[in-house]
Amino acid sequence: GRGAAITGWGSALPPTVVTNADITTLFDTSDEWIVERSGIHRRHQASGPFVADADQPPVHPEDGIGSTAKLAIEAGREALEQAGRSGADIGMLILCTTSPDQAVPATSSAVSAALGIAGGAMDLNAACAGFTYGLVTATGMIGAGLDRVLLVGAETLTRITNFADRSNAFLFGDGAGAVVVEAAPGPGSLLGWDLGVDGTLVPLLYADHGGPGMAMRGQEVFRRAVRVTVESAELSLQRAKVSIDDVKLFVPHQANIRIMDAVADRLGLPRERIASVIDETGNTSSASIPLALVDAARAGRIAEGDLVLLAGFGAGMTWASAVWRW
Ligand code: ACO
Repeated sequence: GRGAAITGWGSALPPTVVTNADITTLFDTSDEWIVERSGIHRRHQASGPFVADADQPPVHPEDGIGSTAKLAIEAGREALEQAGRSGADIGMLILCTTSPDQAVPATSSAVSAALGIAGGAMDLNAACAGFTYGLVTATGMIGAGLDRVLLVGAETLTRITNFADRSNAFLFGDGAGAVVVEAAPGPGSLLGWDLGVDGTLVPLLYADHGGPGMAMRGQEVFRRAVRVTVESAELSLQRAKVSIDDVKLFVPHQANIRIMDAVADRLGLPRERIASVIDETGNTSSASIPLALVDAARAGRIAEGDLVLLAGFGAGMTWASAVWRW
């Protein structure tokens, strides 16, 4: 088959920055508690109590461009520019999101129109494991004959956050990250991967249409996340026939710094090799892995040929990992 490679990347964060001090105005909590329990100092928000009414994008806009689409367009445009491509070169847009702008149609439709995507477009919802699900899907489509896929992770989690619930409202943020995935000579970059879901665990983390927002059993999610992420990452390493020592950069789902550190420790990976933006972004679900990956790429932390380990877990409960040659 044909292999795939990442040839461009981009990111977007909404302008409103919400600090832990801002969060303390919502309910009884403190900066110290939030930092110690999660590693989060700030997050960017496109909607919610700290965004001026005039800036709040409508949930059902007539042009179909809500806040998730806006972030996806900005990140996608930057990734295309960096790859030296335009929408006309793209055979498929995969938009990974668990906070689409409306129930129907897929948010990818509006993004596709704005970017002039020549091929198809679809949303992919695997919650916080979404981007890695998308990377494996994009690589598969390239194996099946497409030349280029634009893969975006974009979220406006603040639209489904319960700002009255102090047990989790401080965790979530908004943002988007994008990569262009292109056909490459040889075996390509996806060396090993693992995707999974355990649907019996839906009650641990969910948000209903029209409900109060995200409900989460935090401690159960925490314990399970560490175990499942480690197991999945080990499976991907084994399938890639590499060891953890070969991994230059570990890009975990940015849910909680304690989960990220615990996973790295159990894998035997030094914490310096973790890519982390959680202090600045909070948990951005499908956007978290591409935001951390793009940040590391810009900082020069990965060079061509380096091995990157992606791993995440999310509502569903889903999980996903992949070993990718940069
Ligand atoms: N401020 C101050 N105190 C608080 C707050 C708050 N915001 N929230 C809860 N507390 C209190 C609780 O009431 C509890 O008090 P008690 O001991 O008197 O009963 C105490 O702090 C400890 O609460 P815990 O829930 O045990 O806190 P924990 O250490 O588990 O941290 C957290 C909570 C950060 C949510 C953690 O459980 C976690 O990160 N879980 C995983 C979350 C996650 O990864 N979610 C993403 C999954 S996928 C997705 O993103 C869609």
